Amino acid sequence: MNSLQSWPEPIIRVQSLSDSGLTFIPDQYVKPLADRPSLTEPPPPPAEINIPVIDLSQLFSPDRSIRSATARVISRACSEWGFFQVVNHGVSHELMKRIREVWREFFELPSEEKQAYANSPATYEGYGSRLGVEKGMKLDWSDYFFLHYLPESLRDQNKWPSLPLSCRELVAEYGNELVKLCGKLMKVFSVNLGLEEDYLGKAFGGEEVAACMRVNFYPKCPQPDLTLGLSSHSDPGGMTLLHSDDHVAGLQVRRGDDWVTVKPVPNAFIVNIGDQIQILSNATYKSVEHRVIVNSAKERLSLAFFYNPNGNILIEPASELVTEDSPALYPAMTFNKYRLFIRTKGPRGKSQVEALKSPH
Ligand code: OGA
Ligand code: NI
Repeated sequence: MNSLQSWPEPIIRVQSLSDSGLTFIPDQYVKPLADRPSLTEPPPPPAEINIPVIDLSQLFSPDRSIRSATARVISRACSEWGFFQVVNHGVSHELMKRIREVWREFFELPSEEKQAYANSPATYEGYGSRLGVEKGMKLDWSDYFFLHYLPESLRDQNKWPSLPLSCRELVAEYGNELVKLCGKLMKVFSVNLGLEEDYLGKAFGGEEVAACMRVNFYPKCPQPDLTLGLSSHSDPGGMTLLHSDDHVAGLQVRRGDDWVTVKPVPNAFIVNIGDQIQILSNATYKSVEHRVIVNSAKERLSLAFFYNPNGNILIEPASELVTEDSPALYPAMTFNKYRLFIRTKGPRGKSQVEALKSPH
C-alpha cells in the first residue's frame, strides 16, 4: 500500500494532551538537544533585530521615486532575509480579526465535531496533528487544519468546517483577498528579479495557480523548552502570507546560526519566500528556515496562506537568470512531486532544496 494513505500510529490531538493538565510532555514530543529552543538564555544581541516591516501602500504612491524605493526595500528583504512583514496591504483588518476568531472557535469545538474532519496523509486536507508518516518520528506540539483554496478543481468546501457557521464564507472571502495580494507581490518579485512583470505568475500556472491554507493551533505546553510547535523547515511552495495572534510571539526565523523571534506587528502579514521561488530565481531569493516555539502561558493561533505553483507544472530556474557563470542550480520538477518529501518525512530544515542542487 502507498505509505501516504494512512498514519503509521494512532493520532493524538495535542490540544487534548494540553487540556488534560499533564505536567510532563510525552517522549514523542521531546526533541533532540540540538533542536530544542534555548528559552532561558538571553537573546543574542542585538535583541531588537527584527525582520523588515514594509508599508505596501507606498508601492502605489503617485511618486515614482517612492514606488521604486519600496520595490528596492522588498528586493533586499527577499535576498537578505527571505522574510518581511507588510502593513497597509489592503486586506480588511476587520476580516482578519473575524477569521482569527472563527478559527479559534473551531479549535474550541468539542473533539467529536473536529474529528469529523480528521485528515489522512493522502491529501492532508482536514484536521491534523502531524506532518510526516515515518513511524516513531518526533512530533510537533500543534494541531492544524489544512484546506485547498485554488485551483477551483481542488476546492471542496465540504471539506472545510461547517461550524462555526460563518467559517466557509469567511475562508472564501479571506482567500479571495489574499490571492489578490499575492498576485501583486508576485509582480514586484518578478520585476525585482529582472523578469517580465507576469513571469512568476505565468510560471505558477496563471489562472491555474494553487493556494492552500493551514491554520495552526499551538496549545499551551508544560515543558516548552523541550519541544517545538513546528520544527525547522522552509516552506516548500511559492510564497507564504502568515497572519498570527499579535499578542503571542512564536515564530523564529533563521539568521546565520541564530534564531530571531519575530515580533508580531498588529494587522500585518508576514511574507516569506518558499522553495519554488528559490528555484525559479536560481537562488537569488532564498527560502529561509523557520520554526515555532511554544510556551506554558498562552496558546497561539496562526493562519498560513500558501501561494503555490499549480502542482502539475514543471518548475525550474528562469532561463533569463541562467548564464554560463551562473548555471541552473536545480533540475525541473513539479510541485506535486516536490511536496511529497515534506509530506513523507516531515519538516527537515532546508535539506530538500539543498539536496536538489545539481552537481557541477
Ligand atoms: C507554516 C509556518 C509559522 C507559524 O505553517 O509553514 O511556518 O508561526 N507557520 O505558525
Ligand atoms: Ni512555514
